[in-house]
Amino acid sequence: MHRQQLLRKQDYEEDIRSFNAPSPVDNQGERARAVLRIEGLSKSYGAIAAVAGVSFDIREGEVFGLLGLNGAGKTTLISMLATEQRPSAGDAVLLGHSICNERRTVRQMIGVAPQEIALYPMLTTAENLRFMGRIYGIKASELEERVEQLLESIGLAERRDDYVGSLSGGMKRRVNLAAALVHQPKLILLDEPTAGVDPESRDEILKIVRRLRDDGNAIVYTTHYMEEAEHLSDRIGILNSGRLVAAGTLEALREELEFSEVIELTGFTAGIDLTPMRALGQLCRVDRDEKRLRLLVKRAADFLVPLQKIISRSGKSIQLKIMPFSLEDLFLHLARKEVNG
Ligand SMILES: Nc1ncnc2c1ncn2[C@@H]1O[C@H](COP(=O)(O)OP(=O)(O)OP(=O)(O)O)[C@@H](O)[C@H]1O
Ligand SMILES: [Mg+2]
Repeated sequence: MHRQQLLRKQDYEEDIRSFNAPSPVDNQGERARAVLRIEGLSKSYGAIAAVAGVSFDIREGEVFGLLGLNGAGKTTLISMLATEQRPSAGDAVLLGHSICNERRTVRQMIGVAPQEIALYPMLTTAENLRFMGRIYGIKASELEERVEQLLESIGLAERRDDYVGSLSGGMKRRVNLAAALVHQPKLILLDEPTAGVDPESRDEILKIVRRLRDDGNAIVYTTHYMEEAEHLSDRIGILNSGRLVAAGTLEALREELEFSEVIELTGFTAGIDLTPMRALGQLCRVDRDEKRLRLLVKRAADFLVPLQKIISRSGKSIQLKIMPFSLEDLFLHLARKEVNG
């Protein structure tokens, strides 16, 4: 069982109402209230710095897409925010409450859908949700209605009495998500909520997440699906070897980079000599394998003359494509880049 044994109802709503911190100004100049402030959060396992001095905030009514390659530190960061692991250094403050010093209060305010599905297979769908509700101290008189609401919202009302062990993988994912929402948390942490689900279940999950966002919830969302992150996230953070190497809106991150277009050559590209292009001095990055060459540039148009020469000199059939820089390109660039220090 990955979900922590959560504690009985805490009277934290007063604290939420009385918290009145100044709004941060984001990189678009908008004002939004920070629900969570993460300050220098770190976690080491022996010599491995799984999370290394990460700082950012999560705002009311936003989906923060937390991206990173396998092992970048996403789950470790989420498990510290969920108070399942103690930080080695740093802190995070949720509506005025420290994850280090006020763990019980914070637990009650956070909902987590863990990467590994954390449900009881020998309980039914409704029983799993009821069980979570009891852990969070929801009154019996309110619990049934809440469970029914959740079952409706995940489209599984008809499977309420089926054992979770008998549900499909995509259905289990949806129940795993609903179990994070029983107590109407202020901050929702979703660790790969669409991993391994079919496109229909994915759409269902994305709809639920958008609804939660529209209701003003703050959501941290990790995924390896870049298209999903691009459509869903209001802001994006990229973790690389435990460090946050970028955070902001996609537009702002694109603007910060020195390139905005991708020239892709496919076919027999192994012997291609890029010297004439390098002479222009504006090639920002080159990724190549035997069959594909990707050049990240500021303006593809500046390279068309040398490209034409290169292709005609090669005497091979080579296809040329010019594309704007996608989140996937941005991600691969920042998530793979060596982190110094
Ligand atoms: N309990 C643990 N003990 C030792 N090392 C750990 C532990 N948990 C995580 N790590 C290490 O911390 C690093 C970050 O792991 P983490 O699970 O946070 O990555 P992730 O970004 O969630 O990856 P994935 O995309 O594969 O889920 C990895 O090197 C991992 O091996
Ligand atoms: Mg993970």
